[in-house]
Amino acid sequence: MWNPLLYQANHAFVWEHGRGVLEWLDPRPGERILDVGCGTGQLAAGVAEAGAKVIGLDASDAMIDQARRNYPGLEFITGDVRTMTYSREFDAVYSNAALHWVREADTAARAMAAALKPGGRLVVELGGQGNIASLLEVVYQALGEMGVKNPPHLNPWYFPSVGAYCSKLEGAGLTVRQAMLFPRPTPLDGGAGALARWFAMFGDAFTRELSEDSREQFLRLVEARAAHTLLRDGVWIVDYCRLRVLAFRQ
Ligand code: BEZ
Repeated sequence: MWNPLLYQANHAFVWEHGRGVLEWLDPRPGERILDVGCGTGQLAAGVAEAGAKVIGLDASDAMIDQARRNYPGLEFITGDVRTMTYSREFDAVYSNAALHWVREADTAARAMAAALKPGGRLVVELGGQGNIASLLEVVYQALGEMGVKNPPHLNPWYFPSVGAYCSKLEGAGLTVRQAMLFPRPTPLDGGAGALARWFAMFGDAFTRELSEDSREQFLRLVEARAAHTLLRDGVWIVDYCRLRVLAFRQ
């Protein structure tokens, strides 16, 4: 269950770093644009400021409720990218930091392609190959030491390579114009407690089966093991790697 208040209070970097997606999107006045995984609506508001008519879609009712409270003049809809049924409606579809939650990437690619008008563009940014690799290594170590069997099985995310993801977009009938995979070390707001808050926001898949005490033990183990690579002067800097792609529908 997403917590929009925790998201907005501590994870503003998600949409602040999303500005690169908007540069590639280059929204123009009068365009109809779909934001897939809009969260609490901040990037959609940026697109609306450019004069486009934006619709924000997110699978979480709680996030959509918060987006509507944040931007009452904009349109937000609860919905899942895998099952959305838009057909040739949008000049552009974009997504920031959402599609790595969707393991059925072929289904999502087909639905996003279908939503585009012919000639329309898709701009997506998601965690790519190698994303948070150092963090995941210590997560698996910590869970293994705590007796959890096969910790990588708990990983809910999809962090594809350039080749794997572009093949999926091409399989959905899109032509890829630009793609890049780049490291983007990301400082977390909020000092020493920030990594624990990151897990509270995003890491439920790893901790939900643990008792309260075991969850604390897990977080302390991860912090202790990750500190020498990810903690600098009291700031957690997570080893994010982004995959950004621009593609067109024929
Ligand atoms: C990411 O944006 O790369 C990300 C966010 C939360 C969990 C995992 C990855």
